[in-house]
Amino acid sequence: MATPIRVLVALDADADRDTVEAVIPVVPGIELTAVADDLETGWRELEHTGVDAVLVSCAGRAEQALAFIEGVASEFPDRAVLLLHSGGANGLFRRALAAGAEDLVALPVANGEPPSPAERERVSAELHGALEKAVARRKRVTAGPGLAHGRMIAVVGPKGGAGKTLVATSLAVCLADAGERVVLVDLDLQFGDAGLVLGLPPSKTIYDLVVSGGSLDEEKVDDYLTTHESGVRVLQAPARPDQAAAVEVDFLRQLFKLLRASADWLVIDGSPGFTPEVIAAIDAASDICLVGTVDAAALKNTKLGLETLRLMGVDPARIKLVLNRADSRIGVTPEDVHAVTGHPPDVLIPSHRDVARSSSDGRPIVSSHAGSDAARALRALSRSYMGVEGPAGIGQSLRRVFRRAG
Ligand SMILES: Nc1ncnc2c1ncn2[C@@H]1O[C@H](COP(=O)(O)OP(=O)(O)OP(=O)(O)O)[C@@H](O)[C@H]1O
Ligand SMILES: [Mg+2]
Repeated sequence: MATPIRVLVALDADADRDTVEAVIPVVPGIELTAVADDLETGWRELEHTGVDAVLVSCAGRAEQALAFIEGVASEFPDRAVLLLHSGGANGLFRRALAAGAEDLVALPVANGEPPSPAERERVSAELHGALEKAVARRKRVTAGPGLAHGRMIAVVGPKGGAGKTLVATSLAVCLADAGERVVLVDLDLQFGDAGLVLGLPPSKTIYDLVVSGGSLDEEKVDDYLTTHESGVRVLQAPARPDQAAAVEVDFLRQLFKLLRASADWLVIDGSPGFTPEVIAAIDAASDICLVGTVDAAALKNTKLGLETLRLMGVDPARIKLVLNRADSRIGVTPEDVHAVTGHPPDVLIPSHRDVARSSSDGRPIVSSHAGSDAARALRALSRSYMGVEGPAGIGQSLRRVFRRAG
């Protein structure tokens, strides 16, 4: 049986001990180690007892309790803190989170009477769920930066049809093939086709997640991800363009944070241009993958795209420039690209007649034609993110693409 979650209760001066004790879940997974009648005693207990979670309870004014939570968050970052409150919670949730609490649970309103058994049961079940999630989240956060904070690659590009979806889906599949935990979010909210390209059934989408309401947590988001055979978990784009407006930028910011905490890699397939959702992704991302093509008009747009990223304050070291449909017969060399855009290309992907076919079949080119130059270039891109192949290696693969295509 799993080790139970050890819980300490610390009561603020005006908290009601009986009400709090009545909702502590009496289940094998929870072990109540102590109930401290004031915050000072609670602090001493914390210093001497190894607990996983602290329940801080207050009624009315919450200043002392919030200061206590702040103290626990800074001195004992491996303990999950939850606030139990009775009375008006106006703005309290936000303040408790800002202080470092994982969650807030409202106690049954006493009104001089003991709460009904049904009400006690309901709050107790809510507290049980909140405790399990909070302790799991704390464990992940303190387990180390690799686990707590995956990298996020925003695949973007100024123009439609350049190959963003090809790059984003291939990158996600290659990273998953290498054993990484990958989530792909189709952020082309009106006309996203990442699910289609990967041959996924059109099931739940980001729109369904938005309209499901309630607070966003890892378990909930998980229900809306569709798993590809490679292991990539995909949050698909809305089924219809009119549903795109329901997906707001604030929601996306929260979503990105959550997904980065639960995966090694979060890959974003962007819509064309710098739409508000793409800007939100760029802001949240650790890495930007700018996809363009190599004809003269496209290079001009790529240059503008790079300038826009610079104006947004993105460090050029975080940007990889990928040029798609890059064949030598177009007459543009990597040096030309560098000269025009001010950024050397990191990877060139040649045209391959089976790319469109493999998308229609729902089998990405990296799997269906693994030995092709296009697949090789896409794998080199994923390796460069994982740090397996440095810039020199990429340079070699660039030159090989040009030589072979020539
Ligand atoms: N290297 C390539 N060789 C051959 N066909 C390609 C290549 N790259 C992309 N394509 C084809 O070009 C089309 C556009 O590619 P893709 O959907 O990846 O672009 P996109 O930038 O995501 O487009 P949008 O902006 O519309 O989302 C697709 O039909 C795809 O199969
Ligand atoms: Mg696309």
